[in-house]
Amino acid sequence: MKLAMMAAGVAFALVASAAETAPVHDGWIDFNKNGKMDIYENPALPVSERIYDLMERMTFDEKIGQLWQASFDLDPDKVYAGQIARGEVSSFLDSSALIETPVMRNKLQHLAVEQSRLGIPLIFGHDSIHGFRTVFPIPLAQACAWEPELFERTQTISARESAAGGIDWAFAPMVDLARDPRWGRIAEGFGEDPWLGSLDAAASVRGFQGTNVADPDRIVACLKHYVGYGAAEGGRDYNTTEISEYTLRNFYLPQFKAGVDAGAWTVMSAFNCLSGLPASGNRHTLTGVLRDEWHFPGYVISDWEAVNELIPQGVAADEAEAARLAIMAGVDMEMVSTNYHDTLKTQVEQGTIPESVVDEAVRRVLTVKFAKGLFEHPYVDVTRCQTAYLRPDALALAREAAAKSCVLLKNENSALPVSRQAKKVALIGPLAEEAEELVGCWSSRAHAEDVVTLAVGLREKLPADAHLTVVRGCAIVEPGSGQTRSHFGVLSPIIEQPTGTNEIAGAVAVANAADVVVMALGEPRNWTGESSSRLDLGLPGRQQELFDAVAATGKPVIVVLFNGRPLALPRIQEKAAAILEAWFPGIQGGNGVADVLFGDVDPAGRLTTTFPYSVGQVPIHYNHFNTGRPGFGEYKGNYEDGPSVPLYPFGFGLAYTTFEYGKVELSTPTMKTEETITAKVNLKNIGARAGTEVVQLYIRDVAASAGPRPVRELKGFQKVLLQPGESRDVTFTLSGKELGYYDTKGQWLVEPGRYQVWICKDSAAGDPADFELVK
Ligand code: NOJ
Repeated sequence: MKLAMMAAGVAFALVASAAETAPVHDGWIDFNKNGKMDIYENPALPVSERIYDLMERMTFDEKIGQLWQASFDLDPDKVYAGQIARGEVSSFLDSSALIETPVMRNKLQHLAVEQSRLGIPLIFGHDSIHGFRTVFPIPLAQACAWEPELFERTQTISARESAAGGIDWAFAPMVDLARDPRWGRIAEGFGEDPWLGSLDAAASVRGFQGTNVADPDRIVACLKHYVGYGAAEGGRDYNTTEISEYTLRNFYLPQFKAGVDAGAWTVMSAFNCLSGLPASGNRHTLTGVLRDEWHFPGYVISDWEAVNELIPQGVAADEAEAARLAIMAGVDMEMVSTNYHDTLKTQVEQGTIPESVVDEAVRRVLTVKFAKGLFEHPYVDVTRCQTAYLRPDALALAREAAAKSCVLLKNENSALPVSRQAKKVALIGPLAEEAEELVGCWSSRAHAEDVVTLAVGLREKLPADAHLTVVRGCAIVEPGSGQTRSHFGVLSPIIEQPTGTNEIAGAVAVANAADVVVMALGEPRNWTGESSSRLDLGLPGRQQELFDAVAATGKPVIVVLFNGRPLALPRIQEKAAAILEAWFPGIQGGNGVADVLFGDVDPAGRLTTTFPYSVGQVPIHYNHFNTGRPGFGEYKGNYEDGPSVPLYPFGFGLAYTTFEYGKVELSTPTMKTEETITAKVNLKNIGARAGTEVVQLYIRDVAASAGPRPVRELKGFQKVLLQPGESRDVTFTLSGKELGYYDTKGQWLVEPGRYQVWICKDSAAGDPADFELVK
């Protein structure tokens, strides 16, 4: 599948010509060409009435057609022409021929609207995960900005560019909670916290869909992968998950619920087997929770061939059984595999699947197509894309997001910010001049020439008389190790030049001659994302050796990390003077990172995922339950051969100044369940520079009836900018909304008892204040 996705990027640039400019319909279209406006064609009528009328006219084959999404192909207009004309295709997943312009999309749409009997428009989906042509930092990076509105803004641009390129529907946001950095898809989500992740999920949905998804600059959002996909055993993609109902309710479901509440029109069912039943055949989660409890009105699409995968997963004997399981569970549209197409009709005729189940799925699909306005505006103006990409506001936001995503992990003796007086700067490392790597997984329509590398970003900042020397030092991955990198959209891997015999020694010489040494280290982008798990969380290739050699010069080394997951780098932590986690920062990465390195932008990012000390600690997350033997020492469940505490905890991140926290003060020692309580702390900037702190509020419900509560749970944060010497009271209000939790039936419980409250700089810091919740 990954290879196939890459093929999607093969450059078949289609240039829009005037002749291909499709008409934009403002009035009604006579879809079934009978010369009159039928009920379903009348935009003035309620959607439910239009759908009823349309479904009355549809044959059973046409209904089944609405439940299939076709994959891309080199010539989809030829390959699928017959099927589209027969009304057998509902949607397209991308298409190599849909590259950047909507020309091919319009061709396909013309076939659907003009050749099929009822003219039901197609809906076009694409993995616009963190941008389209303007690619922003990976989602995990953006989450570290602790600014959900950032997602709203970046996904607004992503929607605008995607829509201009002919896309109606993003397969995003990915809202899977992840606790295991071996899993490559941790890059695509928000981290390990369900509360912050819920804010990010809702903001992303607002960004894609706006207040009216029919707006030509907006696209349909898709919450994925429902559900539990991030808990893959061993961190191996697609692997089985075992999640108790209690943990599912309190950790894995909340982001989906927040996305549904924010109005997301679609959900994608996941690949994983969830606690004994594959997620794409799971009636409990897909119907019981999603429809019956949450009243989700849109449709569910399976992940790629996930319906067919029910067979190898061992719960369906054949295509028919797979289709039956999936549709009865609540999967409305099948992505790519054709089990619905091939078997639903016979199964309904035989009475093994009620016709009403198929009707309901069709109704949901049509509901979204109507909501998106596809019946009124099936085509995309091909001229829009000529001006839609890389607009100044998009590039400025990409730079802002790259800077805001950075997390400062170490800064000994104020090695950062880099002085503007620096005359000789060495930039060493295999990611110094890499363009494509900075974009991260799901590069969408990124172009290498649009990417600002770190070398370019640094050069921009330095005065003209300063000398910047850039050397690679070693390869990102060493050839011959069986590990590869890849270009955007190209199937063949990049042939990495092996590290030269004297390359590391050369880098050491460059470091020795410099007054500032910056190292650009990390992992290749194709080691992150789908099907890209890692066994080891160190730096690939000879990068650690390169770092050790450069650090041995005694020069203070500033390390910039480009990666898509938490890495376990205790030796870098020990020896580097400064570490800036830049993640995969997107096409403006070099500029955004340089803004932080030179102190033009405050490092205000904080980790939303725990960085382990060693891969042996994973899965690791701050919001775990206590054991019966908490603390450290003998019989406490610790590792014999290393620490149990992480390298950097959730919430961690430094500023260029220092903040001092006062004691947490509560407005009352007792709170009634229907009341609120105020928690306050005094925060002071005791350093010499202005700085932004992310003040974090955590709670703990000490004894709960339906199950243990985590040792800490994030329930609030504020970003506070303070001048040197300035202090401020930072106040939070807590209510039952923050204090409650779900039982296994999905009931929200707010229980009397003792609660602890921390207001602090990260999930491992501070001392709590206590209060009693009373009825
Ligand atoms: C499979 C991935 O799991 C999913 O995230 C993606 O949206 C689809 N392929 C379509 O590309």
